[in-house]
Order: sequence, then structure tokens, then C-alpha cells
Amino acid sequence: MKFLGKPRSQRAAFLPLCLLFLKILHPGHSHLYSSRYAGDKVIRLIPSTEEEAYALKKIYQQLKVDLWQPGSISQVSEGTVTDVHIHHNGSRALLAFLQETNIHYKILMEDLQKVLEKGSSLPSQRSRRSVPGYNYEVYHSLEEIQNWMHHLNKTHSGLIHMFSIGKSYEGRSLFVLKLGRRSRAYKRAVWIDCGIHAREWIGPAFCQWFVKEALLTYRSDPTMRKMLNHLYFYIMPVFNVDGYHFSWTNDRFWRKTRSRNSRFRCRGVDANRNWRVKWCDEGASMHPCDDTYCGPFPESEPEVKAVANFLRKHKKHIRAYLSFHAYAQMLLYPYSYKYATIPNFSCVESAAYKAVKALQSVYGIQYRYGPASSTLYVSSGSSMDWAYKNGIPYTFAFELRDTGHFGFLLPEMLIKPTCTETMLAVKNITMHLLRKCP
Ligand SMILES: *[C@@H]1O[C@H](CO)[C@@H](O)[C@H](O)[C@H]1NC(C)=O
Ligand SMILES: *[C@@H]1O[C@H](CO)[C@@H](O)[C@H](O)[C@H]1NC(C)=O
Ligand SMILES: *[C@@H]1O[C@H](CO)[C@@H](O)[C@H](O)[C@H]1NC(C)=O
Ligand SMILES: *[C@@H]1O[C@H](CO)[C@@H](O)[C@H](O)[C@H]1NC(C)=O
Ligand SMILES: [Zn+2]
Repeated sequence: MKFLGKPRSQRAAFLPLCLLFLKILHPGHSHLYSSRYAGDKVIRLIPSTEEEAYALKKIYQQLKVDLWQPGSISQVSEGTVTDVHIHHNGSRALLAFLQETNIHYKILMEDLQKVLEKGSSLPSQRSRRSVPGYNYEVYHSLEEIQNWMHHLNKTHSGLIHMFSIGKSYEGRSLFVLKLGRRSRAYKRAVWIDCGIHAREWIGPAFCQWFVKEALLTYRSDPTMRKMLNHLYFYIMPVFNVDGYHFSWTNDRFWRKTRSRNSRFRCRGVDANRNWRVKWCDEGASMHPCDDTYCGPFPESEPEVKAVANFLRKHKKHIRAYLSFHAYAQMLLYPYSYKYATIPNFSCVESAAYKAVKALQSVYGIQYRYGPASSTLYVSSGSSMDWAYKNGIPYTFAFELRDTGHFGFLLPEMLIKPTCTETMLAVKNITMHLLRKCP
């Protein structure tokens, strides 16, 4: 199991040499994404009246801002925080407007390119070698993640089985790991997916971390052993493979899938608005150029359809659905699409409460928890609501770190603490569902 740990000294020694080579091979290729975010800003705004919210919506539309929080302009309302990424060509106009209208704001990032380059090591600065010595404290490209999965499938066949549930729009395999001790007896299962939204890189990092921890502690940790003996975990480290790849190669802040539209040049559908549950209602957009575009019809995206088919087929034994997003530090459960509590609310609520407490016990990081609609915002067509509606009793969406300081650019240094604390929450929820509620 030696490749699960990271030989630090080896990496340190290897790095300067590696850099030297890359400098020779790619002179001048020293800026991520060709410096396209130089001078861009991220600004937090809180409209305090309806008029201010209305004015903000208008200017957001005009300046075509990239909304980080919430997901769509329709969700901008008084009293709620909005984080916007403004292209450098529009930042002066936005700031002038804010000063004129006296709307409260705070600049979260003065220069997005600088934050981007500081927080994560340049992909070219890292060992891109095969799996032995796999480093779980850096972000990995899709290719690296898939190689890692193939490797585990070969070396850990006792606990891991890797299979594909279909193909993405661009033809990539949609891989899932089935994790757990094989058994002839009936076992219940937990579904975990990461990376529905491409730019939320901490999600896939957590999915990989979960698998690593499971393999490393299966023998030594009684809780983990119980989990893997009594349950199967279906883990999909990268749900939106096309989008994730695109966020590495072209646009770090890409969110949607990459499907084409027949009438518009904009590409992609929000894979978390494309499910057949109150599809394309409140909190989703019908416009293909919006980040929360619900798609031409439910399950139009091959990625969504593949997962929905898999869950439909296995829903009898899948007891929990967990989906990993960023950023907000929240643990959410249904409903997303309406302000109402689910039946048997108390079981789910107490699971969430305990999970959040367990998470907080590590570094004191606080998570809010509650129904997604009232805790985050209303959104329709989400995977969590769909899973719940289709009979999976425990369905949760995690919004991982942070609360906006780095936003989607959570530095690699924070992968370990984030995953360590989240691990406790996931174990806690899992143990909760192994018992009879309450
Ligand atoms: C500013 O940049 C954005 C994003 O690249 C672009 O869509 C927009 O047309 C530009 N606006 C102006 C006024 O140049
Ligand atoms: C995983 O390994 C098994 C054999 O142990 C093999 O049958 C299967 O095709 C592998 N999965 C993938 C996706 O390669
Ligand atoms: C609520 O929980 C009870 C006991 O676990 C179960 O029998 C019942 O079907 C649940 N009701 C709903 C609506 O989920
Ligand atoms: C779950 O978290 C609660 C609250 O922190 C704790 O009391 C309990 O022991 C945890 N259970 C497990 C199995 O980790
Ligand atoms: Zn998300």
C-alpha cells in the first residue's frame, strides 16, 4: 500500500529538477490559463433593500458577471450575499456603480490571477508521474484521477471494483468505484458523487481522500472496518468529466457540462438543475447562456442520465446519497425546490446535526445545516431532491470550505484539513444510517 502515502522527501528532491526540465521544454509558459484572469476581481455584495437587489441584477446582466454565489441572477435578493467575479474590463464600471449607489461591498480578491497562481501549484510544477506516491494534497487532472482509479482497481481488487456507467457528452467514460468488502450476503449501499460542478475542485479531491482513508484504515479503524464490511460505497470522483477537464485546460471557473445547444453558441447545462424533480422551476434558468441552465429537457445530459439510471436500478439497496459541492460550509438536505420539511425530518436532521458537530470537533470549522431551500437557496431539478423523491431516505449535499475567502480557489494547503474534517462527518452519517433511526 506504499503508494497511498506520499514520500515527501522524494518529491522535494525531484521538484527542482523537474522544474528545470519544464523551463527548458516550455519557455515562457509560466502563467496559468494564459493569464486570462489578470486584473479580474471578486467582490462580495449585500443588497439591503429590494431596490438595491433589483439594481444589482440589472448591472450583473449588463456586465455579464460570473456569479460565484448564488448560482444565478434570479437568486439575488435583499439580505443575501452575492459573490461576483468581474472581468477586468468591467470592474471599473461596477465599482463606480457601487460607490454611486452606496451598496455595501467588499473586495474579496483584487487580482484573481494572482490568487490562482499562489494557491495551487502550477500543474507543470508537479510530478505528473503514475500512481505510486500519489499525492492526495494537490488537485489532480481528470487523466491523473482516472489513472489512479485504474491502478487501485488492479492493486486492491479485494475492496475495490471499478466500472463505467456510461459516456459523457464528449465521449469520456463515467467511472465509479465500488468500495467495500465483497460479500454474498445482501449489503446496503451509499452513493457518493463529487464534481457535478466543474470548478468546485475540492469535491473530487475529497472523493479521492475518502477512498485513500478507507484503504489505509480498513484494518486499524473499527469504524471504517464496520462501514466497509456492512456497506458498499459507490464513489464517483468526477461526475462532470467534460466540465472538469475544461476547467483545467480552458476556463478555471467553468461550472456546467459541455453539451452543445442547437440555437445558441453557449455550451453546457447545469448538471444539478437537470433532474426530473420540479425540473426548470424556481432557481433554474431556461436560458442556455446562464450558469444554472436546466437543459432542453430532464436528463438531457448523458452524465445525469447515466447516474439516474444507475440509482434507479439500485435504489432498493442504496440507503444514502451524498453529493459534494463547494463553497459555503453547509450540510444540506431536502427540499431544495420548496420551503418545506421532509417527512421523518427528525432522523435526517439529527444525522446532520451530529455530522456537523463531528466535523467541527477537528479544527473548529462551523457548518450550517438544514433544508437546502431555507439554508442556501431554492433550486429545482437538483440531484439531492431527485434521489430523495426516488426513495433514498438519507440524501445530503455538502458545501465544503470555505465561505468566500478563496471561494473556488481553495489552496492545496487546505485540502488536507478540509478532507480530514469532512471525513468525520461522512463517517458519522454512515454510522447513523447503520443504526435504526432515531
Ligand atoms: C469584457 O470581457 C468579457 C469576458 O471576456 C466579454 O464577454 C465582454 O464582451 C467584454 N466587454 C467589453 C466591454 O469589452
Ligand atoms: C477492474 O478490474 C476487473 C478485474 O479485477 C476488471 O474486470 C475490470 O474491467 C476493471 N475495471 C475497469 C474499468 O477497467
Ligand atoms: C418514517 O419512518 C418510519 C420508521 O422508520 C417508516 O416506517 C416510514 O415509512 C417513514 N415515512 C416516510 C414518509 O418516509
Ligand atoms: C457522531 O458525532 C457525534 C457528535 O459529535 C458523536 O457524539 C458521535 O460519537 C459520533 N458518532 C460516530 C460513530 O462517529
Ligand atoms: Zn456545486
